[in-house]
Amino acid sequence: MKFFIDTANLDQIREAHDLGILDGVTTNPSLMAKEGVKGKDAIMRHYLTICEMVDGPVSAEVFSTTFNEIVAEGEELASIHENIVVKVPMIKDGIKAIKWFTDNNIKTNCTLVFSAGQAILAAKAGATFVSPFLGRIDDSNWDGMQLIEDIVEIYNAQGYLTEVLAASIRTPLHIVKCAAAGADVCTSPLSSILGLLKHPLTDLGLQQFLKDAATMK
Ligand code: G3P
Repeated sequence: MKFFIDTANLDQIREAHDLGILDGVTTNPSLMAKEGVKGKDAIMRHYLTICEMVDGPVSAEVFSTTFNEIVAEGEELASIHENIVVKVPMIKDGIKAIKWFTDNNIKTNCTLVFSAGQAILAAKAGATFVSPFLGRIDDSNWDGMQLIEDIVEIYNAQGYLTEVLAASIRTPLHIVKCAAAGADVCTSPLSSILGLLKHPLTDLGLQQFLKDAATMK
């Protein structure tokens, strides 16, 4: 399973990249706004900076919702860097645009996916990635993991090439369960990635090893 980081924060991207296990980055308008990025030039520069930091897919989301505008905006985003993946919302014009991008060799990430039916449409349109929002489903008192499992099963049964990119990750356990379910990619906040490191027995064990090591100096 590939590890993407779900942020537009350059320090967090750098920290995850320095671990040596980062395969890509996903952003969305909320994450970009959180970094105070304002205006088209600054937005384009920010994406370019991320692409220069991480050698892997970088999802940049369109702000438009109509076919012609999504295509125009997506083409512009894709021209920033070869690793840009145009992130498109799961709406009717979004699906049409994903098909257009597929036919024109532009990579896409179909976002805001909350059902297996939506995931089938994204795959039919040729999306490079589909982003089911695991955490937001859990937040709504439904079973987010079940959706990831269903999409993986359907894609395997149908031989769809679209990669399942589990998004809206809240905890390290989400990452572990996504790996078990066969997700192709998990995009997580830095806190969930670093949370994978933690175990009290590791801390206790290391403490003892260091104590014993000190007696041999
Ligand atoms: O980028 C899409 C997704 O990961 C958003 O996550 O935490 O806002 O539900 P969240």
